[in-house]
Amino acid sequence: MTAKLIDGKAVSQKIKIQVKERVEKLAQQEIIPGLAVVLVGENSASLTYVKNKKKTCEALGMRSDLHQYPDTLTEQELLSKIEELNTDPEIHGILVQLPLPKQIDEFKVISAISPDKDVDGFHPISVGNMMIGKEAFLPCTPHGIMELLSNYEIDLAGKHAVVIGRSNIVGKPIGQLLLQKDATVTYCHSKTNDLASFTKQADILIAAIGRAKFIDHTYVKSGAVIIDVGMNRDENGKLCGDVDFQDVQETASFVTPVPGGVGPMTIAMLMGNTVQSAEKDLQRQNNSKYVK
Ligand code: GUN
Repeated sequence: MTAKLIDGKAVSQKIKIQVKERVEKLAQQEIIPGLAVVLVGENSASLTYVKNKKKTCEALGMRSDLHQYPDTLTEQELLSKIEELNTDPEIHGILVQLPLPKQIDEFKVISAISPDKDVDGFHPISVGNMMIGKEAFLPCTPHGIMELLSNYEIDLAGKHAVVIGRSNIVGKPIGQLLLQKDATVTYCHSKTNDLASFTKQADILIAAIGRAKFIDHTYVKSGAVIIDVGMNRDENGKLCGDVDFQDVQETASFVTPVPGGVGPMTIAMLMGNTVQSAEKDLQRQNNSKYVK
């Protein structure tokens, strides 16, 4: 049997149509959701990501400002910029593209973003609220994965989900979101002994490793659902995931492609978070009107 394709491009399209409708509703109240994207340095992958974010914002009728700086920017200069964006009423979301140059402390910068504008969901307050299942902006890639699983009606309760990778951006939060849906979660990482002995038990396998085509059928249980978060280049320079897509076809039940799987979902969820932030801002304004 051949695995079914989880089509992130199609699902993200559907989500973007819903976001656009919400943008149009806000426009009736003269509000345009605004996303500020801050890019420091010349990392070419980061530049491609931020250009895509900007293009998508504009296609959905949102405002997007790109603040681009050389990699000599100081931490203080960046913190001042964030403070300015925190108080700008036309900006509803602030995204500082990671990684940052080494003279800048990422934690300090993320912590300086107002939690009300933290559309990446990286602020310690957002992370804390997510961990205890309270309302928070969810980090875009893990949120996008949960949307994919839900769209394909993949049942998680009681299932064994194995996450490979423990980054703050993907691995740690996706494990928590799966746990909230009653999966039994195992985290694996670069120091895990006998990785295959864990992955072979996975009903749901999340690969966020960063190594091209690392996961082949020998790591996969028959009937597993595989989510590939990898963004690598193969030996010919072609974009590929952490999973050997062809090799797992006869073993997995569902698999995401790269490109066209998790990637487009990440951007769609960012758009969703930015609109959500603008809607919440409007709600706060309306509430304060009644208080006065
Ligand atoms: N770098 C890689 N992925 C991300 C992301 O989702 N958000 C930000 N801000 N930086 C990233």
